[in-house]
Amino acid sequence: MSEPTGAARRRGPFQVGDKVQLTDPKGRHHTFTLEAGKAFHTHKGSFPHDELIGAPEGTVVRSSGNFDYLALRPLLPDFVLSMPRGAAVIYPKDAGQIIAMADIFAGARVVEAGVGSGALSTFLLRAVGDQGLLSSYERRQDFADIAKKNVEGYFGGPHPAWNLTVGDLQDNLVETDVDRVILDMLAPWECLEAVHKALVPGGLVCCYVATTTQLARTVETMRAMRCFTEPQSWESMVRTWHVEGLAVRPDHRMIGHTGFLVTARRMADGVDAPMRRRRPSKGYDSDDYEAPQV
Ligand SMILES: C[S@@+](CC[C@H](N)C(=O)[O-])C[C@H]1O[C@@H](n2cnc3c(N)ncnc32)[C@H](O)[C@@H]1O
Repeated sequence: MSEPTGAARRRGPFQVGDKVQLTDPKGRHHTFTLEAGKAFHTHKGSFPHDELIGAPEGTVVRSSGNFDYLALRPLLPDFVLSMPRGAAVIYPKDAGQIIAMADIFAGARVVEAGVGSGALSTFLLRAVGDQGLLSSYERRQDFADIAKKNVEGYFGGPHPAWNLTVGDLQDNLVETDVDRVILDMLAPWECLEAVHKALVPGGLVCCYVATTTQLARTVETMRAMRCFTEPQSWESMVRTWHVEGLAVRPDHRMIGHTGFLVTARRMADGVDAPMRRRRPSKGYDSDDYEAPQV
């Protein structure tokens, strides 16, 4: 049985073409691609790539300046944070939430927009696997080009489950019988009509938005459409810890805000979503939100 796309590049001794992540004595990372006959230069001296080719991960190399560097392959979270960017990427903590809470399964048919730098596309492709489908839409050609390079750089070539279309999702979405749709864009509410058409009954839409105003508009548009279940909204915060001797405490710095996630499921055709029992608070005007015709 052949290995899933990209798996062979994730294990075994270092080979030419592998990405290597070095950690220096101060914990800083340096990433480069292994090439026979080349040298890696830092301001603390250099060492030949050949010292790593054929060596196992977890090897320590010493530079001519007498500094030790730990060599490992970058994990996917390291890879997406160090790859070239066009648009801002979805952070690994949010990508993890999306994979779990949007229930991305092996073999799923998934639609995604926008693609930006391709960070989320890479996580989604790993989750749907070679037998699934990820159809990604990006309105900007320059971002699509960056994303393609990043995704193919990660998998070592084209991924058999990936289609990349340049254009607005709402005008170009052709797939039907889609299990999951993931939207990371400024105005996801503009795409909900097209998303509804594409999804199977019970299929899930997940939107990642950066601000509370986008969150409100997304949720209220879904409600007004009456063809999605009651949306669930949340954010996640990750706090790293400093653990040294008796000093065991949260790190002083953290990423305080990335974005909010919203999920909802598509109702069956002709079935209206049950109305919420709770009344919206005073001052709320449901006419502020228009439901597209479905
Ligand atoms: C924040 S970026 C996406 C980042 C991406 N999720 C990642 O992890 O690298 C948002 C992208 O959505 C694209 N976009 C916005 N509206 C769109 C639409 N209606 N259809 C397709 N792409 C859209 C923008 O051009 C931009 O590249």
